[in-house]
Amino acid sequence: MKNKYYILGIESSCDDTAISIIDDEDNLLFDLRYSQTKTHEKFGGIVPEIASREHIKSIFKLIDKCKRDLPHVWEEIVAVAVTYKPGLIGSLLIGLEVGKTLAYIKKIPIIPIDHLKSHIYSVFLEKKIPFPFISLIISGGHTIFAKVDDFENIKLLGQTRDDAVGEAYDKVAKFLNLGYPGGPVIDKIYQEYDGTYIDLPFPLKNAPFEFSFSGLKTAVINLVRGKKLTEEFKKQIAASFQHKIIEIFSYRIKEVRKKYPNLPIVIGGGVSANKGLRKKLSRFKNLFFPSLKYATDNAAMVAGLGKWYFERKKNLIFPFQEDFFKLNAKARTDL
Ligand code: KG4
Ligand code: ZN
Repeated sequence: MKNKYYILGIESSCDDTAISIIDDEDNLLFDLRYSQTKTHEKFGGIVPEIASREHIKSIFKLIDKCKRDLPHVWEEIVAVAVTYKPGLIGSLLIGLEVGKTLAYIKKIPIIPIDHLKSHIYSVFLEKKIPFPFISLIISGGHTIFAKVDDFENIKLLGQTRDDAVGEAYDKVAKFLNLGYPGGPVIDKIYQEYDGTYIDLPFPLKNAPFEFSFSGLKTAVINLVRGKKLTEEFKKQIAASFQHKIIEIFSYRIKEVRKKYPNLPIVIGGGVSANKGLRKKLSRFKNLFFPSLKYATDNAAMVAGLGKWYFERKKNLIFPFQEDFFKLNAKARTDL
């Protein structure tokens, strides 16, 4: 019989603090996240210094709860997977240092996790997709097409030249005074809207794997200039913005399919929670979205990818190795 084991996942790269435990059979035994949205809402965006302080407040509460709920499992954790890049340095450091300390005390390895790779992995929490596949990561910080041969061999095909799509959502929502984060608010308006759409530009239409969202954002800002911003007009702009975003991704997916007709397409990242986008892309076969709870930042995808490495004995850093003390947070990815 196989030995039972448990992997702890820690995520603190941005404004969610999350802890998860996965077992050797892919069961998620614990999966909890504290969102800081309410704290940052009043500032219209994430304040990095406040984010770090909130992580410090939440992380021990989560660990405490996990230990109380699953005391025996906690004792048998065999590795700690933790997000160490990319993200806000102050935020990453909290999760990383707590993770390293736990690993040090328990004398078990740490598994450093790239946040983008964990977003790619999120679909695998419920369905194992055969390699190779095309990944589309759409989040607050990234918009990337990549070819994934496995989680250690990922080739970047193209990315945004300026803003990430989630960033464009957040900026447009802020400009229209709709609140933070922008994605869910604009998505809700889009669901309820039944008027006409204003035509917005499709930047870089002829660059197959690339994106540009800052021009779209500027077009929205220009629409408003010199006009009265009524509630109705706001809704029309927000809905038109999402309408164009959906058109852009739909078009891009079609092009990618032409180029790689046999490869599955796996979507991940916070914007993949978008209901309008999910509905529109559902007509594509062999295309996978994570469940809503695994689309935005979470620790389940970190623990899951950690398990993938653990099974293959890859990227394990033990407390007696020099690299353990050198392991540091990084703002950027080198995917
Ligand atoms: O992956 P994520 O949780 O954090 C990063 O790694 O960036 O993504 C956060 C982004 C934010 O920009 C947020 O506005 C966007 O995901 N988002 C959405 C939706 N829910 C979250 N965008 C569009 N529609 C949504 N329903
Ligand atoms: Zn993310």
